Amino acid sequence: MRVGVLASGTGTILDAMLERGLPIVVVVADRPCGALEIAERNNVPAVLVHRTDFGKDFDRVAYTHDVVDVLKQHEVDLVAIAGFGTILSKPFVDAYSGHAVNTHPALLPAFKGWHAVRDALEFGVKVTGTTVHLVIEDVDSGPILAQEAVPVFDDDTEATLHERIKEVERRLFPEVIERLTNG
Ligand code: GRF
Repeated sequence: MRVGVLASGTGTILDAMLERGLPIVVVVADRPCGALEIAERNNVPAVLVHRTDFGKDFDRVAYTHDVVDVLKQHEVDLVAIAGFGTILSKPFVDAYSGHAVNTHPALLPAFKGWHAVRDALEFGVKVTGTTVHLVIEDVDSGPILAQEAVPVFDDDTEATLHERIKEVERRLFPEVIERLTNG
């Protein structure tokens, strides 16, 4: 099975997936980021589908088609979303329905969205965690494949809590992707 990774950040989860020897055939990012550098260092095709418009007129459908085209060019079977900062629209879900998996830094359905860690901290929960789920059109809402809880400490900052969650994500997400690639 051929795995394509979508990322926008430091890429530590991508790094863990590569260390596990997962069959990653392309890494796609929406902005220059550490994940693209990690892909290049590992001789994995790294493609920047550069999103330059963050305004209300952003053509999300056109952008989504550009991303899907790259994935199709690399004959991707399974898409692994590891911190991709752009919500893709229906053409992506149509193209990869049942074949796209996302890791989210909270225990869904609680704390959906890009600021999940900050929102959990501000809400004052004592336990949060991570969720691996199938991607559907509704953001952070698809069938859950795996979850794991992570404690929140009184002196946590968003950064310390997010790093504790990522430690789990770096183990759990590659495990789930490996299970899926092994059928
Ligand atoms: C992860 O916590 C993921 O859940 C979130 O973005 C983070 C990506 O981490 N959406 P990294 O870039 O792989 O270090």
